[in-house]
Parts: sequence; C-alpha cells; structure tokens
Amino acid sequence: MKRILTGIQPSGHITLGNYLGAIRPLLALQNEEDVELLVFIADLHAITVPQDRVALRHNIKELAALFLACGLDLNKAHMFIQSEVPCHNQLGWVMECNSYIGELERMTQFKDKKQKQTDGVSAGLLTYPPLMAADILLYDTDLVPVGEDQKQHLEITRNLASRFNNKYGETFKLPEPYILKTGARVMSLVDPSKKMSKSDSNPKAFISILDDINVAKKKIKSAITDSEGSIRYDVENKPGVSNLLTIYSSLTNESIADLETKYANSNYQVFKEDLANIVGDFLSKIQEKYNYYINSSDLDLILNSGRDLAYHYASRKLQKVYHKMGIGRY
Ligand code: AMP
Ligand code: TRP
Repeated sequence: MKRILTGIQPSGHITLGNYLGAIRPLLALQNEEDVELLVFIADLHAITVPQDRVALRHNIKELAALFLACGLDLNKAHMFIQSEVPCHNQLGWVMECNSYIGELERMTQFKDKKQKQTDGVSAGLLTYPPLMAADILLYDTDLVPVGEDQKQHLEITRNLASRFNNKYGETFKLPEPYILKTGARVMSLVDPSKKMSKSDSNPKAFISILDDINVAKKKIKSAITDSEGSIRYDVENKPGVSNLLTIYSSLTNESIADLETKYANSNYQVFKEDLANIVGDFLSKIQEKYNYYINSSDLDLILNSGRDLAYHYASRKLQKVYHKMGIGRY
C-alpha cells in the first residue's frame, strides 16, 4: 500500500493556487489502486506567523469542509487537524535537535517570510521545516503532493530522515515529492512574477475557492497580461498570459499547445471571457458541496476519526524513535 500525505495551512482562504498545486495532484493519486491518503490542516505551521484567533478557528473548519468539497474520497482518505495529534510536536522537537541552524537559515521560505516579520522573527519560522519533516516521517509516507514552493522542504525532510537513519538505524522511509508539471506554481493575477498567495494584501492577486462567482470572474478578466495581443505560452516574455493558460489547461485538462491553436485568432478579451466562465463553473460546483459540509455534523465525526487513526499510526512511530534515541524508559 502506498501512503500519500499532504497538509495545507489554515492561514487564509484557500486559493486556486492551493487547489492546482496541492489538491489536484492529491485527487489524481486518490484514483490509483492500493493507496491510503492522510490529509491534514497544518494549524501549528500557521502560527509561525501572527494569526487572529477567531479567523484561525474559522479557517480550520473552512479548510476541512473544502477538502471534502473538492472530492476527498473517505474510503481512501483520512483527514485530521495537526494540533490534535501531539506526536507532530513531539517528533518535531526531535527533528529540530537533529537540524542545523545553518541549513534552516538557508531555506527560501524562511528568507522570504522573515522579511515580513517586522516586529521580530519568530523562532518557529526558522524551525518550520523540522516540524514539516515530522508531519511526513511519522507516517512512513511514500508521496507528498505539493506545489513547487515546497520542493526544498521535501529535500530537507529527506536529509533529516537519512541523517537520523544513519545515526540510529533504519527508522524512517524517505518520501518523494509529487509535483505536477502544470499548475505547480500558479502566479499572482496582478503581478505574474510573484506566486499566487492567500496572504497577499491585494485580493485581486488571487482567486479564493470561496470567492463570489462574479468577483472571481472579474479577477480573471482584469488579470495583468501584456500589449502583444497573441495567446501563446512564453513564461519569460508573457508571464501573465502563460499563467492564464496554465490555469485554463489545469482546469480543463486541455493541453497548452491545443489551447494555443484554439485561440490563435482570438484576442485577450475572448480568451479571458472563456476562462472566467470555466473558473466560475469550477468554483460554483465546489461551493455547492462546501455549503453542505460546512453545515453538516459529519464534519466533526470525520475529523474525530481522522485524528484517532493518525494518532494510532503516529504514536507507534514516535515510540520507536524515542526507544532508538534512549528517551524515556522504554
Ligand atoms: P500553503 O498555502 O502555503 O499552506 O500551501 C499549501 C499547498 O498549496 C502547498 O503544497 C503549496 O505548495 C501549494 N501552493 C500554494 N500556493 C501555490 C501556488 N500559487 N501555486 C501552486 N501551488 C501552491
Ligand atoms: N509547508 C506546507 C505549505 O506551506 C504545509 C505543510 C505542513 C505540509 N506540513 C506538511 C505539506 C507536510 C505537505 C506535507 O504549503
């Protein structure tokens, strides 16, 4: 059996970038034979930057309902909240003690996010990757579907796992990232040199899965392009159009080459109009299911059973680690 695991931070409303980068590959893997999916809401990671308590509570529940609305199959997938399985913090600490400050300081995400913490940089921002390594290594994970920006965190996870295995004997499986060719890095709609991010201060930069349909369509129609007028994929010279082609191709499964042919004689307005409708249809389908789950008492039951199963797996692994290191009595 192949184990597949991923997490998303409840640090805002999840975006089309999150969907295309992390959820879509998860759903693709879910269709394979003999797989078990573990999906979690990374609330401990979210607090590495300041969070409002009311918003955080809300976002945790929202993300849980959204995972289900996107089509998680509960025959194969288990969903839980990271903070409800304390083994994550416990193995996280062990991983921190096996990490070097230098390698953590070199992480791109740390370097980027540290610029934004003007009131002082939290230590948690630095030790974020060892916690993420713990998330993954607790479950003998084979594959981790993520967007391009998480590749470096997967590399350090593998390094920490082999460092531990070399020191204490075979304990952890080395996970592989699972990154799709298209959609692994969706860009901002107002500045296509930047990643689409749910924490962007300009709401026009991202499409949230729960955006009002007309608002979302407008964001596509007003997305930054260029003055050339031709619809072709060229990230360097036409980053805006290329990003829209990526979104279009990912949502419809039509290849970018086919889309270039289809729109060879069209202008941006026609192309954007079509894409706006595709995005609108996609969002309304998910939102309908979201409205069901967010109001259903099933949500708590699903999270309870996910937590219990995750704890069952994780506590066994943690005990093994403590034993190998000589922590505690057993
Ligand atoms: P985060 O929102 O940082 O918790 O990211 C959750 C998942 O979504 C991770 O796998 C990210 O790599 C992925 N992701 C976030 N933003 C984007 C984006 N703009 N394009 C593609 N994937 C993304
Ligand atoms: N760091 C991931 C992000 O920001 C979220 C995350 C935390 C994660 N733990 C994980 C993703 C474990 C995959 C596996 O996107």
